Amino acid sequence: MEVIAIGSDHAAFELKENIREFLIESGYNVKDLGTDSSRSVDYPDFGIAVGECVAKGKCDRGIVICGTGIGISISANKVKGIRAASCSDPYSARLAREHNNANVLALGARIVAPEYARIIVKAWLDAQFLEGRHQKRIQKIARYESGDPNWKQ
Ligand code: RB5
Repeated sequence: MEVIAIGSDHAAFELKENIREFLIESGYNVKDLGTDSSRSVDYPDFGIAVGECVAKGKCDRGIVICGTGIGISISANKVKGIRAASCSDPYSARLAREHNNANVLALGARIVAPEYARIIVKAWLDAQFLEGRHQKRIQKIARYESGDPNWKQ
């Protein structure tokens, strides 16, 4: 079974615990990279930790959660090779995988209720990248990220 890294800041600590349980119940192996309480912390510490875990191949995919899903997705997206998608509905989560091959899912604990967050996570986990025309688009992003001046070609 896939290894899923999960990380959150304090604003999303409770939802992170909930989603970790859901992942375990669903048969996934989970790497919990924190935070470990509701004490105030900085979301980049956790977004980047999860992003690096995925980018280095130490886990298969990642889930990052902060108050809105915005700060922690911006942070994860700074890691080379990460395509983090902040989703607040299951349709976006499925397409984030099918079209964008999002290797990190971001959620906002102040945006989605825990039960709905589980539905979003399941939609993303169950979806498969469709490749085809979508492949060349994510390759463009990767070329740009690598500093290739001919990234558009
Ligand atoms: C923390 O108060 C909050 O700013 C953070 O969780 C997140 O929403 C930032 O994008």
